[in-house]
Amino acid sequence: MMNTSLKIGRNICAAALLGLTVAAGGAAAHDGATGVVKERMDAMKTMGGAMKQLAAMMKGQSPFDAMAATQAGMTIQGQAEGLLKLFPKGSDDMSSRAKPEVWTKWGEFEAATAALNKASAALAGADMGAGKSDIMALFAGVGKSCKGCHEQFRKPKDK
Ligand code: HEC
Repeated sequence: MMNTSLKIGRNICAAALLGLTVAAGGAAAHDGATGVVKERMDAMKTMGGAMKQLAAMMKGQSPFDAMAATQAGMTIQGQAEGLLKLFPKGSDDMSSRAKPEVWTKWGEFEAATAALNKASAALAGADMGAGKSDIMALFAGVGKSCKGCHEQFRKPKDK
């Protein structure tokens, strides 16, 4: 966790240099979001930005850089660590797309968070000498954990 803000700073800087858009998702659903709901949307967006940066690298739209990839992993892990706290009971207001199952199946939600933590830690801890295919596999692991949780715990858009 040391130097996380420095690393996040560098990531944002790198993303800006590459001309990537860090913002993610449509605006309409979040218009009324405040407090902890807004906080978790922001945390999710930060992770979305890191995933976009990685995806651009994996697609060859930006140069492959194992260091930047591990830093994106750290950005995601930094958010994953605090994620459960951003889902306190009852925080499912109109602006939120969190399904009630988050709270009725809390154990499974915790497990989905743990899966993200593990996958992002693996990416964050990748060897500096890791090749693109190694990073690709770790990136896919993170993506799978995002998707797994969204499928189970996030409502479709505009519902
Ligand atoms: C443990 C479950 C879980 C994991 C893991 C997870 N998400 Fe989410 N995500 C959610 C839920 C639930 C919402 C809806 C939150 C709300 O609207 O209150 C959400 C919303 C989002 C949003 C929309 C934010 C907004 O502005 O409304 C984005 C983008 C997103 N997630 C990206 C990611 C990415 C990228 C990852 C993986 C790196 C990830 N999420 C991992 C549960 C998860």
